[in-house]
Amino acid sequence: MKLDPLGDFQRTHRNGQLGLADTGQTVRLLGWCKRIRNLGSLVFLDLRDRWGLVQLVANETEVAPELLARLKAVRSEFVLAAEGVVAEREQKNPNMPTGDIEVRLTHLLILNSAQTPPIPLDESAEANEDLRLKYRFLDLRRESLQRSLVLRSEVSSLIRNYFRRNDFVEIETPILGKSTPEGARDYLVPSRPHPGQFYALPQSPQLYKQLLQVAGFERYVQLCRCFRDEDLRADRQPEFTQVDVEMSFVRQQDIQAMLEPLLVELAALVGKEVQAPFPRLAYRDAMEWYGSDKPDTRCSMRIQDVTAQFAQSEFGLFRAAADSQGQRRVRALFFQGAQAAAFSRKQLDDLQDVAKHLGGGGLPYAKWGREGFASSFKKYLDPQGETALRAALGCSGEGLAVFAVGTSQETSKVLGEIRLRLARALGLIDESRFEFLWVVDFPLLEWSEEHARFVACHHPFTGPHPDDLELLESDPGRCRAQAYDIILNGFELGGGSIRIHDAEIQSRLFKAIGMSEDEARDQFGFLLDALGFGAPPHGGIALGLDRLVMLLVGAGNIREVIAFPKTAQARCLMTNAPSPVNPRQLKDLGIQVEAAAPAAP
Ligand code: AMO
Repeated sequence: MKLDPLGDFQRTHRNGQLGLADTGQTVRLLGWCKRIRNLGSLVFLDLRDRWGLVQLVANETEVAPELLARLKAVRSEFVLAAEGVVAEREQKNPNMPTGDIEVRLTHLLILNSAQTPPIPLDESAEANEDLRLKYRFLDLRRESLQRSLVLRSEVSSLIRNYFRRNDFVEIETPILGKSTPEGARDYLVPSRPHPGQFYALPQSPQLYKQLLQVAGFERYVQLCRCFRDEDLRADRQPEFTQVDVEMSFVRQQDIQAMLEPLLVELAALVGKEVQAPFPRLAYRDAMEWYGSDKPDTRCSMRIQDVTAQFAQSEFGLFRAAADSQGQRRVRALFFQGAQAAAFSRKQLDDLQDVAKHLGGGGLPYAKWGREGFASSFKKYLDPQGETALRAALGCSGEGLAVFAVGTSQETSKVLGEIRLRLARALGLIDESRFEFLWVVDFPLLEWSEEHARFVACHHPFTGPHPDDLELLESDPGRCRAQAYDIILNGFELGGGSIRIHDAEIQSRLFKAIGMSEDEARDQFGFLLDALGFGAPPHGGIALGLDRLVMLLVGAGNIREVIAFPKTAQARCLMTNAPSPVNPRQLKDLGIQVEAAAPAAP
């Protein structure tokens, strides 16, 4: 097809901005043909640009033959330049912002043709996600993705402005760096001049931002890309963006007080009103009450400990827990009301499968409904036992209780998830609300069976709680950290801590996680040196920008707010990355690949 040149054509208006006030004006517009329809002698064409949609119309009996010929050639997604006169529509479309008017075509240029898109670009139409990702440049034409990416851009600039107003300096830190142990695997980049040596892409700029405090910047921020080779989930990507913050001469409440007004502003950007200060919840209570270190507190239902109820029980499983002196526990979730009590056998079986999948033995239940009392362990409960259990759960009237038996950790894992599922099924979560929460007083270290030593829960630069310093050597697992997470609606939005600024404590911590002095010097000599040259007390936080935008737009998956995301298998279906490389490139790097990869073209 012969294409028209753009030439001197200049748009006079953006499509989405036209309205009745423009009636009678000659306008010049640009964009893509969303849809073209022939109705008798009238041709209607919806022209889309970044700002919206406008209807163009041509009457076959009135327009010039040349314009008509061009119109006949136009298909969906052709790129057009149009000139016409704005007129009030006879049949207005209240669902379209420009639905009061139409543009009567006088000239049309076809700037480019387009093949039929392999995926529907309509919001309503379902399409296979792999295909969408393969043709991401087309998928991105969808209105919802455009809106999300525009909002993402607004969020980034709001954040930058906020920190600038508060005297922060944005400083870029290296992408080619040395690995920092954050728990995930590193993405490694081989060095050509130094065969056999590797850079690591940053999992976060943690150490650089601390060194910038030693350097005296006092208030640092960076919107930076981070890379982690870890199992992917709906809220994780191998590369993602952090809003990375560090401040000197602060306590954890100062960092929190700096972040809260920003989060209030961000929520307001999408019309949500939230009140600061946000509630604080100790990690121990979060696990005890909600079975999660990132509880969705939009549902207030708490887990209860009912172990003592079964001290005399004939139900062996519960009785054994009651006899285990705190090693194992019986914990329960109780949901009041007829709707909960009406949960069917099938629904309970499904929840039982979830519990089993999470490593629980099952999900014993008890319910008080219209048909009376029913329970998977009814035969072990005499009427007094039932009454006592009912009272312990706080049940008056109808309701459903589910139980988990095991260690604190095991029962938390099961009931934390079941709590969310039941709350959702019972409509107890108001999806329109935003609920922020600080979880504080995390443990500093946890025992790793895999490594047969203690490992840092957050990262090994996190300050121990000042009251627990001595536990570092005597009982490391009980030492609390000066670490905090910010939670939004059950998602971990960010995490941070007050750091160790005393070289001696840093060395003690390295020792507590099983590092020899030589290993500590070899890996972190630069940090230990820096701490010895007047490091100020400092601390910070990093928010996940992608997760933040995902929650702001109400998307169910982080991929919806990233222009070119990877799949759950960490692949880019559009470019086919990762891909084999030319053998010459490998030779330059001194790398031999063991598993035969298909040869690169
Ligand atoms: P942390 O590891 O908790 O802390 O990360 C901070 C936040 O980054 C986001 N995030 C991710 N987002 C998408 N995909 C991922 N794979 C991913 N991993 C993490 C989360 C998370 O809360 N250096 C510390 C911060 C500090 O101590 O200041 C750090 O990186 O929203």
